[in-house]
Formats: sequence, C-alpha cells, structure tokens
Amino acid sequence: MPITILAIESSCDETSAAVCRDGKILSNSIANQTVHEQFGGVVPELASRAHMQNIVPVVDAALHNAGCQLDSINAIAFTQAPGLIGSLLVGAQFAKSLSLALDKPLIAVHHMQAHVLANLIPEKRPSFPFLCLTVSGGHTQIVQCDSPTQLHVIGETIDDAAGEAFDKTAKMLGLPYPGGPLIDKHAANGNAKRFKFPEPQIPGLDFSFSGLKTSILYFLKNAGTSNLFKEEFLADESTRQKFIDENLADICASVQERIVSILLNKLKKAAAETGITDICLAGGVSANSGLRKAFRALGEKEHWNTYIPAFEYCTDNAAMIAITGYYKYLENDFTELSISPTARAEW
Ligand code: KG4
Ligand code: ZN
Repeated sequence: MPITILAIESSCDETSAAVCRDGKILSNSIANQTVHEQFGGVVPELASRAHMQNIVPVVDAALHNAGCQLDSINAIAFTQAPGLIGSLLVGAQFAKSLSLALDKPLIAVHHMQAHVLANLIPEKRPSFPFLCLTVSGGHTQIVQCDSPTQLHVIGETIDDAAGEAFDKTAKMLGLPYPGGPLIDKHAANGNAKRFKFPEPQIPGLDFSFSGLKTSILYFLKNAGTSNLFKEEFLADESTRQKFIDENLADICASVQERIVSILLNKLKKAAAETGITDICLAGGVSANSGLRKAFRALGEKEHWNTYIPAFEYCTDNAAMIAITGYYKYLENDFTELSISPTARAEW
C-alpha cells in the first residue's frame, strides 16, 4: 500500500500545500503574499488573513496537481512550530479539521527540521550522518542529521539570522523588502574586495551578525569613510545617498561576501570537528548565488559531497513538510487533535 501524505505549511507569509507518495513529491503549490511589500516587512495580522483566504484554493491545487483524491490520503502533516502564531494557527486548524473529518492521523512537523529534510527530496541524497547549514529569515543553524528523525543543532546564531543580515542591509540601502534577493542581484555586478567589513570572533560553532549590522550602519552614515561611530565623520543625507547610488553594486558584493564567509568558515569548522563529509544547505538564503558558488567551491576543496535543494524547496514550502511527515509516518509518530501550534520551539 503506498503512503500518501498531504502537508500544509503556513508559518510565515507563504501558504503552501503539497502531496507526497512514498517519499516522492507529487505536487507543491504555494501562494505568496505580496500585501506585505508596502510595509517593508511581514505584518502578522495581514499574514493570518491572507492564509485564511489562500488555504482552501492552495490545498485544492495541491490535490488536483497530484491527481489525488482526499480519500487516498493516509495522513495530514502540518507545521506546528516555529513561526508567527496567527499564521501557524490557520494551517494547524485546517489540518486538524481535515484529520477529524477524514479520520486520518495528524503529524506535527517542526519547520526547521523540514528545511533540513528538503535535502531528502531529490534522487541524489546525502548519506547519514550529514551536516546541514540552514539559513533563513529567522534562523541560522548548523544541524547534524543522524537519521531523518534524529537531528541535533550543533551551532546557531546568538542574535540575527543570516536572512535578517541581508534584509536589514537592504533596508539601510533603501531597497524594498525582502531585500536578500536584491542584494544578490546587485552583488553580481560588484567588486567584493572593494570594502572590508569585520568578521565576528565568536567561539565554537555559533554565529553572530549584529556586529556586522552595526558596522554597515556606520559605514553608510559615514558615506564609506569609516565603520566607526564618530560625530565628526557622519555625512549629510545627500552625500550619503550619492555614495550609495554610486557604489551600490560594490557595497552589496562586499557585504554578501562577508556574510558568506562568516557562514562557510563555521561550516568548515563543523565538518573538521565532526569528520562528516556529506554537507547540505537549506533555507531561503541558500537561494543566494554567492553562497551557492562559494559552498560548491569549498566542497570541492575539502572533498565534501555537497547538496543544495532545488530553489522551490529552499524557501518556505509544504513539500519539505510532506517529506518530514512521511518519515514521521514510518515511525508512527502521530499527534493528538488537542495539539496547539507554538511560535518558538526547541528541538
Ligand atoms: O526560509 P525562508 O523562505 O523563510 C523563513 O523561514 O525565514 O527565508 C527567507 C529569507 C529572507 O530573509 C530573504 O531575504 C532570504 O531568505 N533570501 C535571500 C535570497 N533569497 C531569499 N537572501 C539572499 N540572497 C537571496 N538570493
Ligand atoms: Zn523557513
């Protein structure tokens, strides 16, 4: 008997549903919420409302594209944590209602575990144990994955996430939200060696991006003359804007290179400490072309086997929830209907 999982993801501003059968993704439909662009960031209340509007058509589309009827579903998986609580509630309530109506088991999935397991979607998969650098808008982690259901966080950010570092830099440069992809675009035409930004000295496998953020802030306030706060340096608004306009590509390339080097230096250290050579990327920031290129190059140099999920499985999507749900199904790891989503969750 094939095992078919319907999965729902609604942790932030993407409403997504997917169907997977025996570990193969049959469909993955996503509704992006553009309503947040005008506010420069995700507005939680608007996100919840948009999920309410999107969830039925998105689930219908996932079932239709998979050529699948509700009665052939074996279980319903949903993102239980972490995320925006109002957004999570919409997906959780929908999944629980379906589970009750169809009398099928319910599977609670941790969003960050799912980002890692997106690497198990393609045919070419990492062998266990593998390491995964998960870089998203809310998280930056190095995870050791011993089996699909045994994952340990061995390093993580102590302040901002890598995606936040991209998005906040973009905001300081006057670029619209989400700025990460725009930094990537401008960086492609820039000289990454032109400006120097500091590398934080954090012990172990943890990351920090707040010092870099402050350094960029004063670098821009001083129109490139210094990274330090000194009253006498601070440039006036028009000098600052002129500096940004004339040097945008080089600034983006230099910041991007620093973020990438912070990430990859820790990943290299994790690989050396664990002796693991199957290494993956995951999360929205793994769409960054500078990171992908540098990761592949480092992998060749270090003789790693490297893996990056397809673009559609890097950013938030229900296919990764479905694959995680599948492995939890194999272990009979079901949950009660009384479960509630949680905004934060250790794992
Ligand atoms: O995983 P994700 O879709 O959502 C979260 O769970 O946070 O990640 C979103 C993050 C945002 O910060 C966005 O700016 C960043 O991923 N991102 C990028 C790129 N594409 C998405 N950052 C840098 N370069 C990109 N090409
Ligand atoms: Zn995510």
